[in-house]
Amino acid sequence: MDNERIAAQLLHHRKARLVQGDPISPPLVSAATYHVPDHTKGGYSYGRAANPTWEELEAQLSLLEAAPVVAFPSGMAAISGALFAMAGPGARIVLPSDGYYNTRLLAEEFLKPLGLHVTYLPTTGFETADFTGISIVFIETPSNPALDVCDIAAVVARARAAGARVVADNTTMTPLLQRPLDLGVDVVVAADTKAPSGHSDVLFGHVASRDVALLDRVRNWRRLSGAVPGAFEAWLVHRGIETLEVRLSRMCATAGVIADRLTRHPKVLAVRYPGLATDPSHAIAKRQMAGFGFLIGFTMADAEIAERFLASCPFVAQSTSFGATHSSAERRARWGDPMPEGFIRFSVGVEPTETLWSAMADALDQA
Ligand SMILES: Cc1ncc(COP(=O)(O)O)c(C=O)c1O
Repeated sequence: MDNERIAAQLLHHRKARLVQGDPISPPLVSAATYHVPDHTKGGYSYGRAANPTWEELEAQLSLLEAAPVVAFPSGMAAISGALFAMAGPGARIVLPSDGYYNTRLLAEEFLKPLGLHVTYLPTTGFETADFTGISIVFIETPSNPALDVCDIAAVVARARAAGARVVADNTTMTPLLQRPLDLGVDVVVAADTKAPSGHSDVLFGHVASRDVALLDRVRNWRRLSGAVPGAFEAWLVHRGIETLEVRLSRMCATAGVIADRLTRHPKVLAVRYPGLATDPSHAIAKRQMAGFGFLIGFTMADAEIAERFLASCPFVAQSTSFGATHSSAERRARWGDPMPEGFIRFSVGVEPTETLWSAMADALDQA
């Protein structure tokens, strides 16, 4: 189905279920307990098992993913839920060495001590790897923060041949820009904290899979681990997703313009953006993405110059995270990511393109 039809459905998915007098926006139901005089009759009983506002959001997210979805209170809760639901005794897991660092910390601090075997590959190494003996292959493409890309279908083919299942962290893209499930991936995990909610005011995540039994296990993990979302957070994400398509189209268009101009700015030593014809990710990105995203990586001469640019540009929030309405940027080396000191991860927002670029160009000139 095309993105424009999905975007329209995201706004109207409740219509077929509405009756006279129902609110058009989903009701925000904050309830720990429900009226259950007869427990044999089913329905809602306790807030850790089910909530009507999560279910409204899951219905919307399912349209976005074209797959059943389980909602979680953060991207990391979704990643944990998928891995704990999938990993059996002695599971052998391959993770990206250059992806989101907290996924690696989860593996080092909690999966390895349980006896799971965890190894790492750079994102560009997955499509030629031998997965013999591996049970779970976890990819993140484009990777955060380096924006390297791997060929998802090629990774899936190799994983299948070895009998492994594939999990893809699709946070940097969203299903409107890349559809890992259509490329054969078993499970998608995502931080809706980023572009789907889109306003830097909520943490959220989800797991999507067309394997119904596996997703039931993920849902059961949520109930038993207690990693359940709040109703208000689910409501905020639902509201954010209504404008996801329109925000992404501005953000991606502006990112393309800015990435290209950055390549010609004398203060910028290197630029990574999958949409640049010269980028090492471009050939695969063109094949498997519907858009090149809103994240740009660029390198300035050193930390001081990069910090001067960040401090002086009036239309760039100096914050971590990405995917929001407002442009934001930071030096990733400040958190210990193995990137050059002057490397900036820039998340393009919905500011008018030329206004944003003109502020950036001035700040770069003066940095
Ligand atoms: C690629 C990626 N996956 C997962 C997460 C975790 O999301 P959350 O912060 O909502 O737990 C992040 C957060 O930055 C991320 O960048």
